Amino acid sequence: MADVDVVCHQAAVVGAGTTTGDLPLYAAHNDLGTAAVLAAATEVGIERLVLASSMVVYGDGAYACAEHGRVVPSARIPQALAAGDFEAHCPSCGQTLAPLLVDEDAPAAPRSAYAASKAAQEHYASAWARQAGAAVVALRYHNVYGPGMPRDTPYSGVAAMFRSALERGEAPRVFEDGGQRRDFVHVDDVARANLLAATAVTTAPPGSFQPYNVASGYPVTVAEVARLVAQGTGRPLAPEVTGEYRLGDVRHVVASAQRAARDLGFRAATSPQEGLPEFASAPLRP
Ligand SMILES: NC(=O)c1ccc[n+]([C@@H]2O[C@H](COP(=O)([O-])OP(=O)(O)OC[C@H]3O[C@@H](n4cnc5c(N)ncnc54)[C@H](O)[C@@H]3O)[C@@H](O)[C@H]2O)c1
Ligand SMILES: [Zn+2]
Repeated sequence: MADVDVVCHQAAVVGAGTTTGDLPLYAAHNDLGTAAVLAAATEVGIERLVLASSMVVYGDGAYACAEHGRVVPSARIPQALAAGDFEAHCPSCGQTLAPLLVDEDAPAAPRSAYAASKAAQEHYASAWARQAGAAVVALRYHNVYGPGMPRDTPYSGVAAMFRSALERGEAPRVFEDGGQRRDFVHVDDVARANLLAATAVTTAPPGSFQPYNVASGYPVTVAEVARLVAQGTGRPLAPEVTGEYRLGDVRHVVASAQRAARDLGFRAATSPQEGLPEFASAPLRP
């Protein structure tokens, strides 16, 4: 790392982790790996870091009840999901909650080994900034997609899974009722966000740790994602909404892109409406 001004730390073991046996894997590569990078940076005099973090640190999205305002939803119960009620509900009155944009002040609430390790990376980086008088910008990527994404693996994102299904001539299978909302951000925009962050962090005050959502700012439903990718194939197969669900999934996670725009000057150039159809023919990696 000689002659390096800023480290952009992207390496991590990704994916949800399937069993508790995976816990040490995430801790080793993501927690210990990051700690080692930070210690090594100080050793050679580097005081600036851009960290690839993730929206998974939030756990669930933010929600509001028409009557009770901003609330933490009660956990979705298997009986409700099995009966086709996929929405999050108010813990006080049971009403269906509306999704709000999650901003960077939302508390960390990791729900998986991977999420816990991403939150840990942020905590180590923040502690390092204080201790070393260094500065960190943490970029909380939302759902990244684009050329070079891994093919259909348990760890690849839903956009790649839809795309792989379409390539096999199958309809993309959409869980729940397809109304889950997410933010899909193109990898070119993620790269630009990194350049802006690498520039901004050089003048950030010593001891600072600043997290930013990296998102398109255009929330979409998962059914729309399937439809947009299918549209790009030229012979669109209508998505199959299966009603299947996974207990650990959250209903909505949509980001506020405001702070990154204000502080970093980052605004996504590619909307999901433009980027997801293009993604239908982008090269994937094995
Ligand atoms: N893809 C997304 O939607 C998404 C969303 C949020 C955050 N992120 C974050 O973005 C970063 C890049 O993710 P990606 O999707 O490109 O994943 P990826 O698996 O394609 O890339 C991660 C890379 O890190 C390397 N790596 C893992 N452990 C390592 C170690 N101990 N030493 C050296 N290299 C190691 C892997 O070999 C791999 O090349 C990660 O930090 C991930 O947590 C990705
Ligand atoms: Zn309520």
